[in-house]
Amino acid sequence: MRETQAQTVQVSPLSDDLAFLDIVTEWDLSSAYHDWKVGIVVPDTFRPNPITPRVIAVANQKGGVGKTLTAFELAMALVARGLRVRLVDADPQMAALSAWLIACFPEGKRWTLTDVLFERCSLADATYPTPYVGLYTVVSGPDLGEVENSHEKPPGVESLLQYHLSTEDQFDVTIIDAGPTLGLPTVAALVAAHDVLVPVQAASGLDVKGAASLMQTINRVKGRLNPNLRIAATFLTDFDRSTLSRTIGGQMVKAFPDALVVPVRRSVRVGEAQLAMAPLRLFTPGTTTTLDYDLAAALLTGATVPTQRTAS
Ligand SMILES: Nc1ncnc2c1ncn2[C@@H]1O[C@H](COP(=O)(O)OP(=O)(O)OP(=O)(O)O)[C@@H](O)[C@H]1O
Ligand SMILES: [Mg+2]
Repeated sequence: MRETQAQTVQVSPLSDDLAFLDIVTEWDLSSAYHDWKVGIVVPDTFRPNPITPRVIAVANQKGGVGKTLTAFELAMALVARGLRVRLVDADPQMAALSAWLIACFPEGKRWTLTDVLFERCSLADATYPTPYVGLYTVVSGPDLGEVENSHEKPPGVESLLQYHLSTEDQFDVTIIDAGPTLGLPTVAALVAAHDVLVPVQAASGLDVKGAASLMQTINRVKGRLNPNLRIAATFLTDFDRSTLSRTIGGQMVKAFPDALVVPVRRSVRVGEAQLAMAPLRLFTPGTTTTLDYDLAAALLTGATVPTQRTAS
């Protein structure tokens, strides 16, 4: 790993007395609309994954569902809890994580995930600091999508990330932000991961249907290459108190009965923070969106959750 520049921005924990969501065991589908309280569903069967170092893939082949937002804000929440976190951008789109989270590159060669997948360098070589203390990144590149069809791709390329991740221990958590396809980089992320997080847009019925084809890929990877892979959480992004969001929440709970179901409340600050290329958590520390990611990060790692919670 390249330690090139000092990381200067400290990420602090949030105050416990903010309006975090309640933690519930079931999605409320029966109360009258006015009495409906939105909560994060933690099923009785859910257990935080005890494995460290831990690898988490954020995946959904549907575009624009909040994968990058989820990967970035969860990473920031984990950093605020004192963990050493690496964010891997496995999306070749130019407007993806690498355009948002600036890596502190040294002079000279800049390794990317493409170089890792072509075996030109190790994952550690391609890991660079960011301005945020405790957060590191591996950038993507526009040529990442070419790996799949290249004649030069190494045999077993889909297991390369898993290989690198299983041979190093510098990070408590590595989060991989997949692109909107089920192509090679996404499969490599699923092969390497212990947990998958699946964001869907809370107000899109199509996203729920699309989750079925993601399940097929996950089950294929599970069957052949990564038997312990599990869906640890689904995120209902851009969540509002509409009847549609409520119905979709119920369907996600049904589809993923052992996973956390996390409503991520809508905030106009999300777009503003993206424009400013800042993590929402630092741009406006107490937005409801930040609180929901913060609580999810605590639940996923088995950390203490804030005690004073107020349902929305
Ligand atoms: N809680 C929220 N509040 C407001 N807007 C939100 C929220 N969650 C998601 N969004 C909107 O969803 C958009 C898409 O998010 P993001 O770029 O993370 O999706 P993605 O799944 O990574 O997309 P792609 O598939 O193209 O990589 C955000 O730019 C934002 O406008
Ligand atoms: Mg993205």
